[in-house]
Amino acid sequence: MFRKFIVLASLAVLGACSSDKAATPPAASTSSALTYYDDALPIFEQHCLECHQNGGIAPFRLDQYADAKLQAGAIVAALQSREMPPWAATSDGSCQNFSHSLALADEDRQTLTQWATSGAAEGTPRAVELPSRPALPDATDFSTPMFSPVAQGGDLAEFDEYRCFMLDPGIDDVRYITGYDVVPGTPSVIHHVLVSIVDPDAESDLEGMTNGEVMTELHAQSPDREGWPCFGGAGDNVNVESVPVAWAPGQGMVEYPGESGVPLVPGRRLVVQVHYNLAGNPGAITDQSVVRLRLAQTVPNVGVVVLEDQLLDTLFDGTPHALEPGKPSVTYGWQTHVSDYFGSLSDVKLYGVMPHMHQRGHKFRMNVSSGATPTCGMDVQQWDFHWQHMYFYSQPLDVTPDTKIDVTCDFDTSSDTAPVLPGWGTRNEMCLAVMYFVVPAAELAQ
Ligand code: HEC
Repeated sequence: MFRKFIVLASLAVLGACSSDKAATPPAASTSSALTYYDDALPIFEQHCLECHQNGGIAPFRLDQYADAKLQAGAIVAALQSREMPPWAATSDGSCQNFSHSLALADEDRQTLTQWATSGAAEGTPRAVELPSRPALPDATDFSTPMFSPVAQGGDLAEFDEYRCFMLDPGIDDVRYITGYDVVPGTPSVIHHVLVSIVDPDAESDLEGMTNGEVMTELHAQSPDREGWPCFGGAGDNVNVESVPVAWAPGQGMVEYPGESGVPLVPGRRLVVQVHYNLAGNPGAITDQSVVRLRLAQTVPNVGVVVLEDQLLDTLFDGTPHALEPGKPSVTYGWQTHVSDYFGSLSDVKLYGVMPHMHQRGHKFRMNVSSGATPTCGMDVQQWDFHWQHMYFYSQPLDVTPDTKIDVTCDFDTSSDTAPVLPGWGTRNEMCLAVMYFVVPAAELAQ
């Protein structure tokens, strides 16, 4: 059953990034004389070039004046629609601050827009600073198989393939994942990578079958290709214990915050979900990507990854909750208390959240209430399924057993004619919060 996945023994997830982006220097010139080199480039360097460079994931470069000028119109549109940069969490100070944020300040948005709409002048050439990629020290590499993705087609995956691969961590004792990175083999097609921890011997969501049996069956549907199709998680009906890696380009390597690590128990498998995006990549593509995990023998604090989706839970309690079709806004809300996961444990901190819905998802809100006044834990005004992210707070939230967590998902079902059921599949919906809590190891040992 996909239910309260706390499981003190094996949960956990992500941490803060090694390098927070520095503030963008103020624009040097007045709006009438904005230039690429003086005004636009400093912002591109901080917020865009990670992806918009030669060999990067984005379809064009912004590190060369001529290319950037050609895209001036598209830049204005993408900034206005907030499609770019890809950072869904509201980051204007009204709902937490995040480490390693790609969010663009309104001031920078204006500077770029003014530059692009006032002739996109060049200015005096200077060297471009391409973002550096700090490496994760002491990591163990796990490779996905060499794979040739093929677009699945249809409304929801026109240019995309979501494929899962199973990897054996090959450990004899418990290890703690204290950081991770993903090195895409062919960066232009790797849109995101999620790694789930799955117990192959545990019950799946199909009665009488283990996760291992379900995964074997899924693979058998296309035995001549590596892996199996998986849209929502580790594949339909596979019961996921934890999601320790949620990576999208631009994120860089992650070191879990609060000196914490996520337990990996011997016998568990890593299921790597890769979202290949083939738009603008005609012809045969092959990819072999590497998930790098830093594994420690002990950690001062244990990272606990909680997956909670009470919409999905209704599938299993005999009264599935269907979303009403044909509406621009249909909401589903749920709430829990920290004590549901940690009992009376004290000294628990909430370090981050990954919202997850499918393609009808529109808005997502999480409130965390330790007293009468709720604190905003996550706010998404424009969900984009294609950009999955774990968002880590700059400062963790202290929680107590009484702390209440409320989540509301807002879906757009305008193009549906039949009620939409929850589920892992492409056509179903989810209202999932993946939460990263940190607990002192000594507390857990008691
Ligand atoms: C994390 C990677 C990433 C970052 C950072 C990023 N982009 Fe993009 N950008 C992409 C990808 C990938 C696409 C192709 C469309 C897609 O897959 O969403 C894209 C598309 C675009 C487009 C075309 C939009 C369209 O409608 O096709 C523009 C314009 C753009 N980006 C501008 C920017 C600007 C300006 C910044 C910085 C403020 C930025 N991007 C930051 C990855 C990124």
